[in-house]
Amino acid sequence: MAGPSYREIVGALEEILSIERFNVGGVLAGGRLLVPAFREGGVNLYSYDYRGSGGLAKLNRGRVNWHVEPPYGARRVVFVRDVARGREQGVLVRVDVDRPGEEPLAPGLEPMRIIGAADGGVTVAFTASTGEEAAVYAAREGEAWRVASAPGLPIVTGVEGRFAVGVYLAPDKPGVGRLLVADLEEGSLRFKEAGGGSVSHAVIHGGRVVYAVEAGEGAELRVLDPASTEDAELSLPHRDLEAFKPVAFNYLGFTPEGRLVAVARRRGRSAVFVDGRRIPAPEGVHYSAYLVDGRVVFSHSSLKSPPSVYESDPETGEVRVLLSGGKPGWLDSRLGESAYVEVESFDGSRVPVFVLRSGSAPEPGPAVVLVHGGPFSEYADEWNVTAASLAAAGFHVVMPNYRGSTGYGDEWRLKIIGDPCGGELEDVAAAARWALESGLASRVYVMGYSYGGYMAFCALTRKPGLFRAGVAGAGIVDWGEMYELSDAAFKGFIDLLFAGRRDLWAERSPASYVDNLRDPLCIIHPQNDSRTPLKPVLRFMEKALEKGKSFEAHIAPDMGHAITTMEEAVKILLPALLFLARAEASPGGP
Ligand code: 4NP
Repeated sequence: MAGPSYREIVGALEEILSIERFNVGGVLAGGRLLVPAFREGGVNLYSYDYRGSGGLAKLNRGRVNWHVEPPYGARRVVFVRDVARGREQGVLVRVDVDRPGEEPLAPGLEPMRIIGAADGGVTVAFTASTGEEAAVYAAREGEAWRVASAPGLPIVTGVEGRFAVGVYLAPDKPGVGRLLVADLEEGSLRFKEAGGGSVSHAVIHGGRVVYAVEAGEGAELRVLDPASTEDAELSLPHRDLEAFKPVAFNYLGFTPEGRLVAVARRRGRSAVFVDGRRIPAPEGVHYSAYLVDGRVVFSHSSLKSPPSVYESDPETGEVRVLLSGGKPGWLDSRLGESAYVEVESFDGSRVPVFVLRSGSAPEPGPAVVLVHGGPFSEYADEWNVTAASLAAAGFHVVMPNYRGSTGYGDEWRLKIIGDPCGGELEDVAAAARWALESGLASRVYVMGYSYGGYMAFCALTRKPGLFRAGVAGAGIVDWGEMYELSDAAFKGFIDLLFAGRRDLWAERSPASYVDNLRDPLCIIHPQNDSRTPLKPVLRFMEKALEKGKSFEAHIAPDMGHAITTMEEAVKILLPALLFLARAEASPGGP
């Protein structure tokens, strides 16, 4: 059966990447909105005058990696810029929302891997890693200082005055999040355990810390006075949030009046709440949300609709689109139905799986098991450029939330600790078998990026024959070599993931099983990747070459792990789509 031509695949990818993706990142002075958008070739920041002219004014000049949420009414926006061509050596840049131009926030600060940051208006608190240590820092106009170091992974998510709050993943309890409270003036850190759960997010307002705790199969909000260690369950004026039974939170924030805005999720779909009251919003995933003049502005997407900004009026129930990139008509017919299913794995566990059918593939037809990175991340009913491109290229897309994924409770997430390339690979395999047995798939391929690339390498070396071919993007092949090339934060992460079991590294490294390689493999790797370095993958290729294995490899120059421009997305996705199309077109298998 002939699938789409190369020309159609290239054209579809270009059109999908050209769809403008709009988010909302804060409320600026004069009631304007901060709109981070994938537009004009990549991620850019805009000031959106939505009550006035409706115009979008671009704030940044050069590249933006990610922005720090500004406090309500801000006149400046701070963002992180990688200054090392993808090696994730970041600096903080500030832009004035009324005056063009960029300036470094703290010129004296060396570039570092910035892991989390929060803007209190004057002071920005952030966590960053060097080769030697991960630490909490603070910066304000022309001044920056190191607050204290924290072995493991500290992630700042909120700041007010002298206190910064966040999440701390410490080596002693791998994967478990504690509440982090930093006194920026005193230079001290305090940690609080969440008693049987994991802290996933924290904000501070009016001297009170509100934080989310994810436990076995649910999540709750708690409140703490940072001066003490007394905490309590947060009580809100409305009960809708409680009734929603959240499992995780996408967003927490306060309005200047102290109203709590929360986006909670369960089973890959979210809902927006203000003080616990549910706000009308379309079905799918919502990101940050803000209260402006009694209305709630939020961003939303689903597997079939790209990220757009909406406004919802809680009084009238009216929801309207403010900013949307629109989807070309042809794409509507190429994206088939989306679905959520649960698939039984080897140990009886139910693996949550999202499915996006291709509108142009038969059923059964070719299917790609797409594996997310992280591993603390998840697929959800949200826009996914890779999934949309695969569906447009004629592949059904099967997206398992293998053990280790977020969004299904702490128990499921922590099951991967100490067992990489173990139970979670079985979950990926279960999703593949489900696709074949349910009548969706005629043949299955595996594809992933980062931890998902590792899973693709694992699948082809540990389960040869299950997949017809695989694409490993920015993958991991050798934990020992990777550890040596990692900075303090990622060394900490590897130890956390293996629960300190370094004796397992070789056994769980695809480089130990090159002999098993049999199915066609497409390796795609950013040259400057500092999270999953290229070097071990080059050595893997050398071994594969020596052993006479057939593989193809694409090194993407001048980019690192993060994909923030159109160019970078093409470098990673195009070789993958063409490889899969070729594999599918070859009669009797590649
Ligand atoms: P990610 O990257 O999948 O994009 O989040 C990763 C980098 C390193 C590791 C895992 C994921 N690691 O385990 O070291």
